[in-house]
Amino acid sequence: MAFKNSKTFPTVSTDRLTLRQVSDSDVQEIFLLRSDRSINKYLDRPPSKTLDDALRFIEQIKNNSLSYWAIAQKEDQKLLGTICLFDISDDLKKCEIGYELLTEYQGKGIMREAAKKIIEYATQTLGINTIDAYTHKDNQRSTKLLEELNFKNIGFDETNSDLMLFRLKKHI
Ligand SMILES: CC(C)(COP(=O)(O)OP(=O)(O)OC[C@H]1O[C@@H](n2cnc3c(N)ncnc32)[C@H](O)[C@@H]1OP(=O)(O)O)[C@@H](O)C(=O)NCCC(=O)NCCS
Repeated sequence: MAFKNSKTFPTVSTDRLTLRQVSDSDVQEIFLLRSDRSINKYLDRPPSKTLDDALRFIEQIKNNSLSYWAIAQKEDQKLLGTICLFDISDDLKKCEIGYELLTEYQGKGIMREAAKKIIEYATQTLGINTIDAYTHKDNQRSTKLLEELNFKNIGFDETNSDLMLFRLKKHI
C-alpha cells in the first residue's frame, strides 16, 4: 500500500488554495479553530484551552497523519481551515472526511474547492470508493456542502441520533 508506506506529505493545490501539511507556525489558527465556540458548536471534541494544547495537537497529526491538510491561501500560506481523511480502511476502499474553516473564510466557496480536490485525491490517487461524513442534524452549512459535493443522506447514525450520515460513492 503506497499510501501507508509513504513518508512524503501529499501537498496539492487548487485555483486559490494550497493544501499542505500543518506546521508548528500554524498554532494560532489551529488554536482558534479548536477553541472558537461557533466553529465547534456542532463538533464533539475536547476544545483547545491553551496554545500548548494546540501545539500538542499539531505534533500528534504531524507524526501520525498523511491525510490531514492545512487549507492555506496560495499567496501567503496562511491557514484558513483544515480538511482530513480518517478511519481509512485497511483495504484503502473506505474512509471518513472532516473539515473546518475559520469563521471569516466561510461563505466564500473555500471548503467546496478544497473538498473537491481532496475527494479527487482520495478516489483517483488512493483508490478509495466510499467516503462517509457524519454531521450534526442542525449543521446546515455542512449539510449544504455535502449535498453540493453529491453526498447522499443515508439517515441518522445508529448510535447517535443527533448525527446524520452522508455517503459519497465513486465507481472507479
Ligand atoms: C462546514 C463549513 C466548512 C462550511 O463552510 P462554507 O464556507 O459554508 O462552505 P463552502 O465552501 O461550500 O461555501 C459555500 C458558500 O460560499 C458561497 N460562495 C462564495 N463564493 C463562492 C465561490 N467562488 N464558489 C463557490 N461558492 C462560493 C456560496 O454561495 C455558499 O454560500 P451560501 O451557503 O450562503 O449560499 C463551515 O461552516 C465550518 O467550518 N463549520 C464549522 C466546522 C464544522 O461544523 N465542520 C463540519 C464537521 S462535520
